[in-house]
Amino acid sequence: MSEFIIEYVKALQILDSRGDPTVEVSVVTRGGGYGRGIAPAGASRGLREAVEARDGGSKYLGRGVERAVEAVRRYIAPAITGMSSYRFREVDRKILEVDGTQNKSRLGGNAITATSLAVINAAADTARVPLFEFLGGRRARILPVPLMNIINGGAHAGNELSFQEFMIAPVGASTFSEAIRVAVEIYKSLKNYLKRAYGPAAINVGDEGGFAPPMRRVREALEAIVKATSEAGYRAGEDVLLAVDVAASQVYRDGLYFIDGSFIEGSRLLELYVNLIDEFPIASIEDPFAEDHPQYFRDLKLSLKGRALVIGDDLTVTNASLISKYLSENAIDGAIIKVNQVGTFTEAEEAIELLTQFGGKAIVSHRSGETEDTTIAHVAVAYGTGLIKTGAPARGERTSKYNELLRIEDYLSGEAVYAGRRALKLK
Ligand code: PGA
Ligand code: ZN
Repeated sequence: MSEFIIEYVKALQILDSRGDPTVEVSVVTRGGGYGRGIAPAGASRGLREAVEARDGGSKYLGRGVERAVEAVRRYIAPAITGMSSYRFREVDRKILEVDGTQNKSRLGGNAITATSLAVINAAADTARVPLFEFLGGRRARILPVPLMNIINGGAHAGNELSFQEFMIAPVGASTFSEAIRVAVEIYKSLKNYLKRAYGPAAINVGDEGGFAPPMRRVREALEAIVKATSEAGYRAGEDVLLAVDVAASQVYRDGLYFIDGSFIEGSRLLELYVNLIDEFPIASIEDPFAEDHPQYFRDLKLSLKGRALVIGDDLTVTNASLISKYLSENAIDGAIIKVNQVGTFTEAEEAIELLTQFGGKAIVSHRSGETEDTTIAHVAVAYGTGLIKTGAPARGERTSKYNELLRIEDYLSGEAVYAGRRALKLK
């Protein structure tokens, strides 16, 4: 097993999809295995997320990450060189020990995430197996339903839509590649519809590749998706389900939510959700309320009686103890999994395992600031989560994950199983 020993760790400042600097780490093992990890970055971040190190000052408008790169060189590399990448959980524990803070502020969450992802990739490469197989073993074969964000609003777009993400889930497909085809056909049909109905500026895209039309009300976005679905020849509610990420903390001010142009109480927002779910085939709703309103999550779950999943993202920040708390309080049906919200891959793995153990949904997710790193595609298959969020079927940093999943499906050939409808159903 000495081939797994980490011999070399290198860090570099590169760019993410918004043109912001980010941290890339490369790891080389004694056996010649090579792995790379790149930290993504969020725009609508949870209050309890791991803190990313940014340089401040004038270079890159303060967004540089030279300090995080230096933290990898000076503190992380010496601490993990000589350890076995095969025992990546121990490597992560070591990194957390060196950092020593709750919120990863000493080394920087970005330095930690990039290293942690590089280590698992190097281990898989050393073992000469794809990452999903290294992590999940030979039984890993479930390809996730993509929750594709095809209309962008909130912090991800320059329009007035209050919800951040409007997604489609092609659950009726029988394979992952068919799901991609269905989603692309609907995405193109939506493009035509938006151009017709709102003019050419409506087909500009937001941070996650979804269109950013000049709409004012969330209902309009849902209506447009339903129309585009039927114009593409599919049935909304059958072949395709809808999902939304409200990212409600972003529209929350002084106890009220700014939705569709006015400030409303949480209880009115809850009514809006119930009405929307009556009207549209919405299967999942993420961050419906702000982080300090878990009571409303519970109320919503009670009112919905399982008709749509209530998912935590900013609420739960991939933190196993927060997820466990909100699952047991009956506030959520599942949670978003983003490695950089919590710091290390091992902590994200704990969150996935906890969700699986208690029958909750784990949705492996990208960030709005992404790169060509495809690790999350492998993570979704490795743990059979059945769900992934990685944007529209457009823009390289989004398609890189879908393309990797297509490669994994091809690699598994007849063994691959598409998660389909049951992925969005409560057990
Ligand atoms: P972020 O948003 O990556 O900009 O934080 C994604 C999300 O809220 O799911
Ligand atoms: Zn979210």
